[in-house]
Amino acid sequence: MDVLCVENLHAGYGPIEVLKGISLVVRQGEIVTIIGANGAGKTTTLMCISGIVRAREGSIVFQGRQIENLPAHQVVRLGICQSPEGRKIFPRLTVQENLEMGGYAVASPAAVKSGIERAFELFPILKDRRNQAGGTLSGGEQQMLAVARAMMGQPKLLLLDEPSLGLAPLIVVKIFEAIRKLNAEGIAVLLVEQNARMALKLAHRGYVMETGSIVMSDKAEVLLNDQRVKDAYLGK
Ligand SMILES: Nc1ncnc2c1ncn2[C@@H]1O[C@H](COP(=O)(O)OP(=O)(O)OP(=O)(O)O)[C@@H](O)[C@H]1O
Ligand SMILES: [Mg+2]
Repeated sequence: MDVLCVENLHAGYGPIEVLKGISLVVRQGEIVTIIGANGAGKTTTLMCISGIVRAREGSIVFQGRQIENLPAHQVVRLGICQSPEGRKIFPRLTVQENLEMGGYAVASPAAVKSGIERAFELFPILKDRRNQAGGTLSGGEQQMLAVARAMMGQPKLLLLDEPSLGLAPLIVVKIFEAIRKLNAEGIAVLLVEQNARMALKLAHRGYVMETGSIVMSDKAEVLLNDQRVKDAYLGK
């Protein structure tokens, strides 16, 4: 079953059209990645799915329900949670408080508490840092917190925007391992990444986006071995 089905999505800012009619699906149990150059429209795509940027045309269906006209605070309650590009954690709140904020739409205090425990299992360093202000964490710790905060909303679909950005390879491996674990628990993942090689190694399927259009889509291993993808996105 499709968890998410985006069809002919158009979006932009003012007079500029950024997304020129993209279509993609995320199926139950999948990690799907969108790779593409700077400015291709990857973040805009996630922002549309979250209800932060409005779709101008096309449809977004989540678990059979039309969501392109819903405001963000309703989308999150349906089970779509985003870890945004640049992490955007609350710098003055502690790690614990950042996690609590991630659970603001979750009604049960017991569920928030168990969510925090789960976050600490996934990223033990966050437990050690639980009373430290978010803004004083290292970049890697902040990224872990951003993913954990998104998980606090009990997502059925997790949107991850550039979780590897600016991080040392060892930390990237840790974060990708955590994503794999979450996916193994049944959470569908839509992952936007500059690090195309790692993203395609982690994902089941991938889409290549160029200037607001999807130009290729296939199983991740097929894209990894595609000469055009290699030349444009995988370097040597
Ligand atoms: N709030 C905004 N107002 C005006 N233009 C915007 C806004 N956000 C993004 N854009 C423009 O939309 C285009 C797509 O941006 P977007 O952030 O979606 O790209 P991206 O694929 O995520 O790029 P990157 O890999 O650099 O994060 C860019 O040309 C950008 O300048
Ligand atoms: Mg982006």
